[in-house]
Amino acid sequence: MLRFSAMAPIQPLIDHDELAARVTSLAQEIRADFPNGPIHFVCVLKGAFLFLSDLVRSMEGQVTIDFMAMSSYAGRATSSGEVRLVKDLDAGLEGRDVVIVEDIVDTGLTLHYLQEILLARGPRTLKTACLLSKPSRRQINVQVDYIGFTIEDRFVVGYGLDYAEQYRNLPYIGVLESIT
Ligand code: IMP
Ligand code: MG
Repeated sequence: MLRFSAMAPIQPLIDHDELAARVTSLAQEIRADFPNGPIHFVCVLKGAFLFLSDLVRSMEGQVTIDFMAMSSYAGRATSSGEVRLVKDLDAGLEGRDVVIVEDIVDTGLTLHYLQEILLARGPRTLKTACLLSKPSRRQINVQVDYIGFTIEDRFVVGYGLDYAEQYRNLPYIGVLESIT
């Protein structure tokens, strides 16, 4: 397994202004689908925490948030295909309009699993917002209702996304060149 120092070179891909503009328009898109009611956002930790925080700050009307965590790559740059629920939600979803907020959909395995377990909790609607999508990597056909940016098969970090817990604090998305 290859390992890289915290100083591996990063090639900028999506800058802060592009992120801000796209997240604002996603917030409007989501609100337009639920014009009258509260929206319950389920943020998938840790990668989506900045996306969620910018999304809800651009959003008008009633919003509630909750957090859950799935098993991570634990320092590996490719998915093992094994998905595990690490932290569950605080509140139930029954009858609510729920939007899952994810950082990136890659193989789709994580999201597919998450959608199945959340649907079983009886939300009125369940939609999914992903900041990034790598369609060329998909192993399972998973429904994503709102996509920020479609990207090539490169390993990206920043704006919440990590490699071995590093780089989440970058205010932009960049490609970690050593692993792609
Ligand atoms: P999937 O199950 O393969 O779709 O993987 C989804 C999860 O893998 C995401 O929520 C991320 O945590 C992680 N992931 C996939 N691609 C990347 C990447 O390019 N950078 C950082 N994390 C990634
Ligand atoms: Mg994730």
